[in-house]
Amino acid sequence: MSKIVLTGGCGFIGSHTCVQLQNAGYDVIVIDNLSNSSADVIDNIAKITGKRPAFYNIDCCDLAALKEVFAKESDIVGVVHFAASKAVGESVLKPMLYYRNNITSLLNMLDMAEQYSLKGFVFSSSCTVYGEPDEGNNPVRETSPIKPATSPYGNTKQIAEEIITDLMKAGAKFKSILLRYFNPIGAHPTAFIGELPNGVPQNLLPYVCQTAMGIRKELSVFGDDYETPDGTCIRDYIDVNDLAKAHVRAIDRLVKGEQSENIDVFNLGTGRGVSVLELVNTFMEATGVKVPYKIAPRRGGDIEKIWGNVDKANTVLGWKAEVPLKETLANAWRWQLALREKGVM
Ligand code: WQD
Repeated sequence: MSKIVLTGGCGFIGSHTCVQLQNAGYDVIVIDNLSNSSADVIDNIAKITGKRPAFYNIDCCDLAALKEVFAKESDIVGVVHFAASKAVGESVLKPMLYYRNNITSLLNMLDMAEQYSLKGFVFSSSCTVYGEPDEGNNPVRETSPIKPATSPYGNTKQIAEEIITDLMKAGAKFKSILLRYFNPIGAHPTAFIGELPNGVPQNLLPYVCQTAMGIRKELSVFGDDYETPDGTCIRDYIDVNDLAKAHVRAIDRLVKGEQSENIDVFNLGTGRGVSVLELVNTFMEATGVKVPYKIAPRRGGDIEKIWGNVDKANTVLGWKAEVPLKETLANAWRWQLALREKGVM
């Protein structure tokens, strides 16, 4: 049975991708150092799919440990590399942690892909590489300009894309796909897995859910004086289950030899921009739960508006986002209720 390695597979997007890969018939090996996740995610994945992925609690920066895993396992045909530190604000305060962790882990995984002659390497990238699109340049296309990064985190994504591109140009034996996510949100419909941020959530929907649950007093809407219809920032919020299915298509494309190019890149979003207030109001409609909020000053570094042109993913990758926003938000709330039921928060 073809095996796929998921680095960071206990994380938010990694765990949902594990479920979809198993559903598609792949055997999955999860590698995760649990720095931003917990091992019970493996149990919960097994509850959903009935199949427990192999799990190695190791750090992708530890090349010797990685070599042991690849030597022990057989039939590994592909990798999806999620493992990275991903807090924008923290990356500004601790740049060396981000460059060391995110770049070293990538280089190690590329070494493994070469040494074990894998067929495909999928890289978890981000719309953050586009920076603030120029006026009239939304929705952004894969060919839209890459702007200078506004954080070390974003820079590690750009550098990683460049490293992979150069390796492909140098004639690596395997092929690659870069997946640029917009804003992943939601949870699995079973509420067995979802997003579990450490400490005070930085991202919008986890904060909305915790406010709805009464864990947070009220949501601060960071600015309503932007050049947008309701004055709040616009993003392309993509359901995490839809996002996970896109990874299955990317792996299929590489493992089944469907891609002629050595490397390709795809935007993964809905193609629709949604404002902060639209998301908050849709959440209240979807759940019937009130979310107290106040308008607060703008958050430094925020982009005013960005959403993706996803025609290429639709036509070439054969993938399209399907989950309606209301359903995504209802899933996120169900996950928050499950966390309360389990006494997690
Ligand atoms: C969305 C909007 C905030 C919290 C981040 C990363 C990006 C990618 C996706 C990894 C903004 C507003 C938020 C709050 C608010 N991650 N907001 N009150 O900043 O678009 O992107 O996640 O690849 O790299 O930067 O997501 O959810 O933090 O913010 O008003 O309490 O919600 O101002 O307009 P962001 P976000």
